[in-house]
Amino acid sequence: MSNKYPLGASPEEQDRLQRQDRALGGIEPLLPYIFSGQQILEIGCGPGLLTEQIAKKIEPGKVIGSDIQFQHVKAAQSRTQMAQIESANFIVADGSYLPFQKHQFDLVYCRLLLVWVTEPLRVVKEMARVVRPGGAVYADEIDWGIRLTYPPANAIERVNDATAKLWEMSGGHPYLGRQLANIFRSAGLEKIKLECKPRLSYGNTLRTDGIWNVGRWNKLLAQGLIDTETYTNAQRDEQSLLENPDSFTLSLNFSAVGYIPQ
Ligand SMILES: C[S@@+](CC[C@H](N)C(=O)[O-])C[C@H]1O[C@@H](n2cnc3c(N)ncnc32)[C@H](O)[C@@H]1O
Repeated sequence: MSNKYPLGASPEEQDRLQRQDRALGGIEPLLPYIFSGQQILEIGCGPGLLTEQIAKKIEPGKVIGSDIQFQHVKAAQSRTQMAQIESANFIVADGSYLPFQKHQFDLVYCRLLLVWVTEPLRVVKEMARVVRPGGAVYADEIDWGIRLTYPPANAIERVNDATAKLWEMSGGHPYLGRQLANIFRSAGLEKIKLECKPRLSYGNTLRTDGIWNVGRWNKLLAQGLIDTETYTNAQRDEQSLLENPDSFTLSLNFSAVGYIPQ
């Protein structure tokens, strides 16, 4: 199974994840499931932004952040050590093969991970395996197919479609959000609660990262998924969106929580 994350772990990607974390409200959506004293595991923690916020909440409990990329784990470790946060630890691990025995954690969660792995059900089954009976599995994932740009921008829509193809070519699942409840049920979880949260980026705070980063453009062009005319038009679309104080983009995140049978 290939589990290569195409966006890497460069300082630019870490900055993008910081902006994304703020746009998603940090740990706020997870708060109903987090309690002091818990043992928690995060899969695909990136530079540990959520892990750090959770660590502060659950003392004297412990949270372990895990990621397949060493560079992210190293960045997460240095930041939490500098901040003298002792309730967070980090390891390099593939979510499909977790190096833990069963029933070790009260909560195992991930955010924007399952859309990138080749076998999301396998990862959710692994997450469920290491949770104690009665404990919870939580995931928060995007659905790239539910997006709106206003005023309408045709070239940007074409770039969005091409981006989804590139994502699928790398083994990911851009439309996973809508499948989340079914994946949880197939992994044997019960009492599943599915929620949906709009992400609105508006006017002066219009989000221009993500599809706009140069690396992505180059890959789309190199794979022949867009032509240079679409590229030029999409840049023009982007400029007019940025100049219009009433423009916005709207996308949707799905989150699910499910419990291990007692
Ligand atoms: C979009 S980032 C999200 C990072 C973090 N969860 C956040 O929301 O800020 C996806 C992360 O998943 C990690 N990842 C991808 N495939 C993985 C796998 N099979 N096992 C563990 N981590 C993986 C990547 O290295 C990357 O850090």
